[in-house]
Amino acid sequence: MSKASARPLTPQYRTISQTSASQKALPLSLKTSGTSANAGENKSKILRMLMFGKPGAGKGTLSARLVKKYEILSLSTGDLLRQHIAERTEVGRMAEEIVATGGLLPDDIMLKVVTSKLDMLHNKHWILDGFPRTLGQGKLLDDHLKTRGTPLSLVVNLDVADEVILSRISDRWVHLPSGRVYNLSYNPPKVPGLDDATGEPLTKRPDDNPEIFARRLEKFYASTSPLLAYYKTEASRTTRIASLSGSTSDEIWPQLEGLVRTSFPNLKERAETREQRLRHSLSDAVISRSEHDSLTKY
Ligand code: AP5
Ligand code: MG
Repeated sequence: MSKASARPLTPQYRTISQTSASQKALPLSLKTSGTSANAGENKSKILRMLMFGKPGAGKGTLSARLVKKYEILSLSTGDLLRQHIAERTEVGRMAEEIVATGGLLPDDIMLKVVTSKLDMLHNKHWILDGFPRTLGQGKLLDDHLKTRGTPLSLVVNLDVADEVILSRISDRWVHLPSGRVYNLSYNPPKVPGLDDATGEPLTKRPDDNPEIFARRLEKFYASTSPLLAYYKTEASRTTRIASLSGSTSDEIWPQLEGLVRTSFPNLKERAETREQRLRHSLSDAVISRSEHDSLTKY
């Protein structure tokens, strides 16, 4: 682990239902605009979604939940840049200092980083986390997607208060190679300090300290938040805009899942999730034969 990660992971974990944050949970609201959620009209729609929000709002956490449950792919520009940095690529060498100090990389570089991956996802459902981050990037992305006939279909804004976010960041640990995110009080690793899937060590992000975090938040207000107004006014008829607010992702998750399922009824759950549910249902002896057959034929 790096020097910055020297702080020991405490084994004193609490579940979300035990945290003071959950007890002080703010009311939730979901506001949407844009196209209607007409199921017939949306049957063939592909999810091409922006997960939009402040640093630490939960973009990575909620994208990972969607990806785990549904056949959706996600691209996080922060994770991509951290991989470039770890591999010492040309982009990585340029990104290292900018990321560590909470700045933003140039728009044209970011467009290339993103589209080199995005262009491979024909007819797939996808989520972009962390891009676009400036008006320039928003316009570049729109132009790129329009020329390919694949415009955005959903923009989700995670509206979480600054105070809530600041308290989360000091508790965040990450598995760098995969981008998996943990939080000591919210979703701790099964074994302290180690990634659940690989058993590899978790680290602190170099930009997760109060001083740099304040800079990232400033950048968000100065450069990124104007994008919301842009999407509200410029979004084509095919793009739905939704704002989800609440103090925890556990409050936001049911709203997000409901929105995505209603707007994209053709989204499929991942097979392993169905199997897990099937095993559970079978053990409870509540599943019918026909449901069993339909669940296992995928
Ligand atoms: P990036 O990695 O994208 O950072 P960010 O936008 O600042 O967002 P974060 O990853 O910090 O937060 P998140 O919203 O994903 O929250 P998370 O789910 O982890 O970018 C890093 C840097 O790369 C940038 O600063 C910039 O330099 C560069 N960069 C990236 N994209 C760029 C672009 N397009 N243009 C130019 N430069 C770019 O959650 C946060 C914490 O909260 C976690 O610990 C999590 O476990 C916890 N948490 C989540 N939900 C809850 C809950 N319900 N209760 C308690 N804790 C919770
Ligand atoms: Mg993230």
